[in-house]
Amino acid sequence: MSPEELRELQLRRLQWTLRHAYENVACYRAKFDAAGVHPEDCRELADLAKFPCTTKQDLREHYPYGMFAVPMDQVRRVHASSGTTGRPTVVGYTEQDLATWAKVVARSISAAGGRPRDKVHIAYGYGLFTGGLGAHYGAEELGCTVIPASGGMTARQVQLIRDFQPEIIMVTPSYMLTLLDEFERQGVDPRTSSLRVGIFGAEPWTEQMRQEIEQRAGIDAVDIYGLSEVMGPGVAQESVRTKDGLHIWEDHFYPEVFDPLTEQVLPDGQHGELLFTSLTKQAMPVIRYRTRDLTTLRPGSAFPEFRRMDKVTGRTDDMIILRGVNVFPTQIEEIVLRTPGLAPHFQVVLTRVGRMDHLTVRVEARHDTPAQRRATAAAELVAAVKDNVGVSVEVAVVDPDTLERSVGKLRRIIDQRVE
Ligand code: DLL
Repeated sequence: MSPEELRELQLRRLQWTLRHAYENVACYRAKFDAAGVHPEDCRELADLAKFPCTTKQDLREHYPYGMFAVPMDQVRRVHASSGTTGRPTVVGYTEQDLATWAKVVARSISAAGGRPRDKVHIAYGYGLFTGGLGAHYGAEELGCTVIPASGGMTARQVQLIRDFQPEIIMVTPSYMLTLLDEFERQGVDPRTSSLRVGIFGAEPWTEQMRQEIEQRAGIDAVDIYGLSEVMGPGVAQESVRTKDGLHIWEDHFYPEVFDPLTEQVLPDGQHGELLFTSLTKQAMPVIRYRTRDLTTLRPGSAFPEFRRMDKVTGRTDDMIILRGVNVFPTQIEEIVLRTPGLAPHFQVVLTRVGRMDHLTVRVEARHDTPAQRRATAAAELVAAVKDNVGVSVEVAVVDPDTLERSVGKLRRIIDQRVE
């Protein structure tokens, strides 16, 4: 498809989506009316900026089914996000939505280097979380053999990989680390496994983490992005050929990046909060959904017709403001992984003493780190965080295998500040 053809298709689909949302979802009708806009006002793609944004709060307020645009008898499946605070958010899919989702995930696995007949071990959680089932139907759609392992039971996961010989694994990067540790515990070098490609997402991870996983597992590690409100996994995918950020499947999901404070749309190339408007979703169209994820849009590379987004290394929600400096856990991750002797397992603990916030990085030593190296590694980490991020932190190097492991999405930040 030429860029002009894609823009034409997007505009047609966008106009349909705006009408569909306005006519069938009371929340959108009220928001458009309050903002004085009507679907007819969208004559070109840039007109989307006139329309109001949608937030997680809107979804919560219309819990469970208030954002659906079709009668319930057309809804074939629901998923829900865990919702660490308050009500979960519920999303719905028609039969056609499920087919679209399978197609974009199949495309993602293919871009990641997957091929029909590959065996795909899926260790994303199955259930209300979109990771497991989303990956599952996409892999089947591509013609792969699916091993629906779901999350947890780590020793058994490794046994399954050794016995069933999958070429591809789909899992959160933090749980991949747990699996790699388990391989080693079982006395098996993970580089000798059948795995060729890992498709990792659902949480932020860095280039340094990619190198760590690629070297230890002997695989290509690529990034998959998505969110339940927009679809689930498979909204954007990194190509194994270029490993340079994630191509957004723009024929189904229209991205914008704006300044989260002024809500002004930013030109491609500038960093800000990512918004998505669905272009083909029937059951639950979303208009300018605020993802809270921070990224930059760039021209396509491996798939020139689609724009790319930089790896999401921060969410507005995860940003720690420490004595006036913005800190993201991924900045700490980069530095931890560059520091010899430190394992990629760490937590960021926030405490308050008097009026001062303190940040302690609790990080495991690697198994082969000599005791005397720990103190120097800690001092190096303190200095590197000061130099690179601009804040003073404390570092506690702890024994290997002592920090809690994730089996799904990892919680890096432990906030012990009392209000
Ligand atoms: O995490 C969907 C998913 C499942 C994506 C499996 C990839 C793989 P939610 O639970 O709704 O959906 O969480 C969405 O997770 O807004 C990001 O903050 C974060 N996230 C997802 N993928 C990535 C990624 C699934 N590749 C939220 N890099 C999003 C960084 C990611 N953050």
